[in-house]
Amino acid sequence: MDTGTAYGRTPPTYRKELTEVRAGTPMGELLRRYWHPIGLSSEDLSVPREKTILGETLVAFRDGSGKPGLVYPRCAHRGASLYYGKVEERGIRCCYHGWLYDAQGRCLEQPCEEGGGARRDNVRQPWYPLEERYGLVFAYLGPPQKKPALPRYDCLEELAPGEFVEADDSSIGSGGPRIVDCNWLQHWENVVDPFHVPILHGSFSGAQFVAQMAAMPKVTFEPTPRVAKYGKVESIGWVLPIDDTHFRIYTAGRVSEQGELSKFRSRMAGKAWHELTPEEHQRHPGDYEAQTSQGPITFHSEERLATSDKGIAQLRRFLEQQLKIVAEGGDPACVAFDEKSAYVRLDAGQTLV
Ligand code: FES
Ligand SMILES: [Fe+2]
Repeated sequence: MDTGTAYGRTPPTYRKELTEVRAGTPMGELLRRYWHPIGLSSEDLSVPREKTILGETLVAFRDGSGKPGLVYPRCAHRGASLYYGKVEERGIRCCYHGWLYDAQGRCLEQPCEEGGGARRDNVRQPWYPLEERYGLVFAYLGPPQKKPALPRYDCLEELAPGEFVEADDSSIGSGGPRIVDCNWLQHWENVVDPFHVPILHGSFSGAQFVAQMAAMPKVTFEPTPRVAKYGKVESIGWVLPIDDTHFRIYTAGRVSEQGELSKFRSRMAGKAWHELTPEEHQRHPGDYEAQTSQGPITFHSEERLATSDKGIAQLRRFLEQQLKIVAEGGDPACVAFDEKSAYVRLDAGQTLV
């Protein structure tokens, strides 16, 4: 009798606690303890823009004085969306009855009320703190009393003459749409998975980055915050979970030429990702194809982790520990509350922050 056929499989499941990001979920609360990049500083926010971050749809704008704001879309008056609002010198004005809110949600004007609103100070449009650094706008969506200092990174602070920091939002290294339609953890796991490099990037995609990548790596995984010095880190990538089944990537790096960061995109069979036909995508898949084909959220119940997946297993264990720390009221790894301890020294190689 033939066994192991596809018939009668157990319905697959995924690990919600590791993947789901909405407020109130374990991972959603862990991720809300960190700053996340939500856009490039160069983005035009003189009109309100909708942004979904960790499953919350919000409205971003930049007031006339240059201050960026991120607010809950439903106006505190009667719920019209501030997406239809107008950005002014002092904040964002709701289209319905003209209430004006500043970047921290304070209500500055209520034009339909006598004298501009005697009780407007009691109104606060729900808002989130933003800070800008490295050409990126960072948001903190967590509990206010736990707001960490926005980290600085040595590799983006200590610049050689002629170097400057540039930001980029163009997608995964081997190309793809800006918004990637699968769970963010699939991308994190790709980063701690050096064994996919010689197979996917060295063979399937056709030597995608450099020929040396086709060599099977010798890998050790060390659960340490610091690794041996290999060289100065050139760029840092952040994965922003948009919701449970979409993410995007922001990068900031040291460059000496404008546009250098976005030029570092691999080519498959001599073409950029967006130039490939559907047939060529199938013949020359890259990270985008591998990760999204795992499904919107990969089924952990159907995995067979092997010895080459030590990095994945360690990452998941690390995340489980952090979930536990947050659930017990503690502060997760790498959050620092003063500027000095928020200065991060990174070494090249596979360093996870
Ligand atoms: S609903 Fe926004 S001002 Fe009335
Ligand atoms: Fe990859």
